[in-house]
Parts: sequence; C-alpha cells; structure tokens
Amino acid sequence: MIQVVLYIHILSATAWVGGSLLLFALGILLRDKCAQKSVYAHLGPIYGYFETFWLIMLWATGLTLFFHFGIDKVLANAPESELAQLMHTKLMMVGVITLLTIIHMYIAFKTHTNERTVMENIVSRGSSMLIFLLNLVIVWYAIGIRDQL
Ligand code: HEM
Repeated sequence: MIQVVLYIHILSATAWVGGSLLLFALGILLRDKCAQKSVYAHLGPIYGYFETFWLIMLWATGLTLFFHFGIDKVLANAPESELAQLMHTKLMMVGVITLLTIIHMYIAFKTHTNERTVMENIVSRGSSMLIFLLNLVIVWYAIGIRDQL
C-alpha cells in the first residue's frame, strides 16, 4: 500500500516539477512577445489548476510517507540526525514554494484580463523563478531522504 503512496508522490513530483520546467522553457524560448502573451493567456489558468492539484497531492502523499516512516518521531527525538536535518530543510523549502505559489496565483488571477503594475510583474516573475530553482533543490533533498530510510 505504501508503495502506491510513494508512486503517487513521485508521479506528482514529475508533474509538478515537469510543469514548471516546461513553462520556464517557454518563457526563454518563445521570443515572440505576441505569441508569448497569447500562449500564457490560454495556458495560464489551466497550468494554475494543474499545478495546484499536483502540489496538493504532494502534500497529501508526502505527509502519509512522513508519518508512515515515523519521521515525526525522528524530528522530535533525534533532531541532529541527518534524516531530521534533510527533512527539516525539505519541509521549509516546500513551505516556501507553497506560499510563493499562493502569491503567484493570486496575482495571476487578479491580473489575468488587465495590465499588471511593475511591482506585480516583479513579484510574479520573481516567485516563479524561485519556485523553479527551489524545485530542483527539493528533488536533490528527496533523494538524500530516501537514502536514509
Ligand atoms: C514540491 C514538493 C515535493 C517534491 C518535488 C517531492 C519530491 C520527492 C521525490 C522525487 C521523492 C522520491 C525520492 C526517492 O525515492 O529517491 C520524495 C520522497 C519523499 N517525500 Fe517528497 N516531495 C515534495 C513534498 C513533500 C512533502 C510536503 C513531504 C512531507 C510532508 C514529503 C515527504 C517525503 C518523504 C517522507 C519521502 C521519502 C519516501 C521514500 O522515498 O520512500 N515530500 N519526494
């Protein structure tokens, strides 16, 4: 049963990280401003719901794995252990990307049909760049956690 949970966790990670890689590539490779605007206008909302779904799945399956492997007890009783340190950092990073995702989506839906202010543009682009980079680090930490189990 726990294998199924791990399978869904890894599937969710591929969808969540894969989605962010694709949008990042589009931002760089699609140089035509008009085409970019049109693609983002159509893809944006679908991408938002798609990513939200997989992030919720990551939290649900991640927490199931977390309690199944007794990592809550490791954090409480052996906070200096490598597993506790890795899990603590991973959870902090996932917490940050969850918060950034909420901010990013709030701006995206608020400004979907109207112009963005300079500030909204900076926060929106900055948050997606940070989510993208943190995702790459989180996968690295996930491997480290697996090694400790
Ligand atoms: C952006 C969010 C996340 C990503 C991209 C992610 C990614 C991954 C990946 C790829 C693995 C498999 C590693 C391997 O088998 O080598 C993994 C394992 C794991 N994840 Fe996550 N994860 C995320 C969120 C979470 C959350 C929120 C939790 C806990 C609350 C969590 C807990 C775990 C645990 C305990 C494992 C080890 C299970 C095992 O490998 O048997 N993850 N994660």
